[in-house]
Amino acid sequence: MIMDALWQSVILLITFWTSVRSYPGVYSKLCFPKDFMFGVATAAYQIEGAWNVSGKGEGMWDRYTHTHPERVFDHSNGDIADDSYHRYMDDVRLLKELGVKFYRFSISWPRVLPTGFANEINPDGVKYYKNLIDELHYNGIEPLVTMYHWDLPQPLQDLGGWTNPIMADYFQEYAKERTTHFTRLRLTVLLDAFGSRVRFWLTFNEPLTFCHDGYGGDDAPGHRASGLEDYLCGHTVLRAHAAVYRMFQQDYQRWLNGFMGITLDLAWIEPASPSQEDEEAAERTRQFFFGWFAHPIFSTQGDYPPIMRKRIDDISSRQNFTRSRLPHFTPQEVTALRGSFDFMGLNHYTTYLATTREVPVRLPPLFDDDMGVKLSQKPDWPKSKSNWLKVVPWGFRKTLNWIKDRYGNPPVLVTENGISLDRGLDDARRVHYIDGYLRALHAALTLDGCRVYGYAYWSLVDNFEWMRGYSERFGLYEVDFSSRSRTRTPRRSAAYFAQLARSRCLPAPALANFTRLQRSRLPAKFAF
Ligand code: NOJ
Repeated sequence: MIMDALWQSVILLITFWTSVRSYPGVYSKLCFPKDFMFGVATAAYQIEGAWNVSGKGEGMWDRYTHTHPERVFDHSNGDIADDSYHRYMDDVRLLKELGVKFYRFSISWPRVLPTGFANEINPDGVKYYKNLIDELHYNGIEPLVTMYHWDLPQPLQDLGGWTNPIMADYFQEYAKERTTHFTRLRLTVLLDAFGSRVRFWLTFNEPLTFCHDGYGGDDAPGHRASGLEDYLCGHTVLRAHAAVYRMFQQDYQRWLNGFMGITLDLAWIEPASPSQEDEEAAERTRQFFFGWFAHPIFSTQGDYPPIMRKRIDDISSRQNFTRSRLPHFTPQEVTALRGSFDFMGLNHYTTYLATTREVPVRLPPLFDDDMGVKLSQKPDWPKSKSNWLKVVPWGFRKTLNWIKDRYGNPPVLVTENGISLDRGLDDARRVHYIDGYLRALHAALTLDGCRVYGYAYWSLVDNFEWMRGYSERFGLYEVDFSSRSRTRTPRRSAAYFAQLARSRCLPAPALANFTRLQRSRLPAKFAF
């Protein structure tokens, strides 16, 4: 009798243990290294509001959303957004609640230099960012500052924006003190104003998106000049990045003890089939999407990826252009660009399948024709609220490994990763998304040796999602955009992320232990 009971318990124990082992995704505890940093990200135009308050000038997105409301899905704009200009203390309180090590935010160029030029500095704008940075330090949170997250001052856009090569000079003046006969105080811009308080800098956020979708598509300024203005934009941005990085390195780095990088975005591109053609199509896409900006900066050869050079030169000439639509760097620019980074910022959200799609040479030019690829996604990949964003965690591990192999394993900081959903506080799908992507990151880090130093979730709060307005919600905190105070309420994912950021270990989503923070603020029906 006793023996039977004993055997039964042993068998039960073995069954339990094997079932636990076969669901590592749910039960195993994965921890990140001690110095791995967790953070969250936002961007000025998407959260600040106060679009014409306290001396701020008009930005390109202000003009675009005001003159073309019909182009934004819900006809909205960032005039008020999360009102973070007035409520940044609330945001910092949430950061504190989450226990994150760093906060990635961007500086609005037209808030600091209302006309875009460095001859007129808006003291209130400078003060706003100084206060925010002070508040972060006071709470033990490291600021990570993006200099440009898409909000170009409108007067500079009137000059052609990033398609005008002179923009690189104006960007450099915005980034630093300008040397003139005026007093030093008057001319203190980003690096001088904030340099001693900010160690981590990003020059640009996602140049692929704002050049390709902005100058080549429907995002502001909505020029839809694909295959032409997008390349001009990319060229100026790369030159501007190199100039600012070199200036930083020479004049500031030693005494600031800081680091500067650039944030590039890469979705994983998987061949649609194992055929050689599709393998090549996938690699070509990675080069057009990512190599466009990464090759000049992170590869040992420098300059544009050879495949881009070859295809665009060739198609341009067959279209009877007298010169390639892809501009050329001078040898000095190639040298200045090569190695112009301390770390790589990476935004990663999803995965696509690639197959070759060559079309006969035609006009007007198109970036897609230059690339010659058709992209798709599998219908059974889990969806989000954004039609482009499917949940494919394994693509993240492949992305990180591809970067490691192509660019000599540079230090990477994941500056964005996240999922959009509908409104609602019980966002279990967001918890699963983060959990899945972080497991992939953990494998890349510990099993594959990728040098990843930190991870920022996009985004702290729901915000203005560009052409999709407020219809797609990425926040760990839900924002009530109909309330004057833009009330922020933690979602289930906020509690999850707080546990993660504090322990540096992935709490199993199924067993996530909801904190006081979550229970006390959730409406009764969400009390877990
Ligand atoms: C990337 C962009 O940097 C950010 O502004 C945007 O909101 C997110 N992706 C989500 O689409």
